[in-house]
Amino acid sequence: MTTEHAMTEVLERIRRVRLVPVLVIDDAAAAVPLARALLEGGLPCAEVTFRTAAAEEAIRRIAGEVPELLVGAGTVLTREQAAAARAAGARFVVSPGFGPAVVDHCLEHGVPVFPGVCTPTEIEMALAKGLSTLKFFPAEPAGGVRYLKAVAAPYGTVEFIPTGGIGPANLAEYLALRCVAACGGSWMAPADWIAERAFGRIREETARAVEIARQAKGGAR
Ligand code: 3PG
Repeated sequence: MTTEHAMTEVLERIRRVRLVPVLVIDDAAAAVPLARALLEGGLPCAEVTFRTAAAEEAIRRIAGEVPELLVGAGTVLTREQAAAARAAGARFVVSPGFGPAVVDHCLEHGVPVFPGVCTPTEIEMALAKGLSTLKFFPAEPAGGVRYLKAVAAPYGTVEFIPTGGIGPANLAEYLALRCVAACGGSWMAPADWIAERAFGRIREETARAVEIARQAKGGAR
């Protein structure tokens, strides 16, 4: 599949749910029940971060056993991690910043990539690579909705996935923006809930977020 086709398919699926839960999984054995809890909450998408040694195996298990869930890799900082994510079955790659090596690896291998940006310079670096859907990170500390509106204004074709400090209290405000494709965050499945195997709680928090997203306007830039 070409990058463009893969990107179109992944983006369609992300735009439909408008949420990307950011997961930190310490034990790969939690991956499948966690993926099922997200699905039961109405969310067929997840980003497994390379912040733990279990990330690669967690992605492999979700891709193999819960294929209806769109699984991606997050916190991808090196080419090696990007390659490992791809081999494990990650359908997309996210990074906190704009890392040219990760971006180039993904473009060479046809893997949809959403690098993190925060400034006009970084947005233009991504545009120069032909990328126009970007993670906006860290959303709240960087200035939140007000900052995002201002920084997005000159770039009519760019859409963002704000992440960092987003939760039920401010989710709707972000999703109301036309330049926002989806919001990312850990609040639906925080690391300690995953570690405690609190899958019922994760399902409920996910369902709550899905309901907020369902009612939100915006997106579709
Ligand atoms: C990320 O990696 O995208 C962020 O750590 C998620 O941010 P949050 O924990 O504030 O949701």
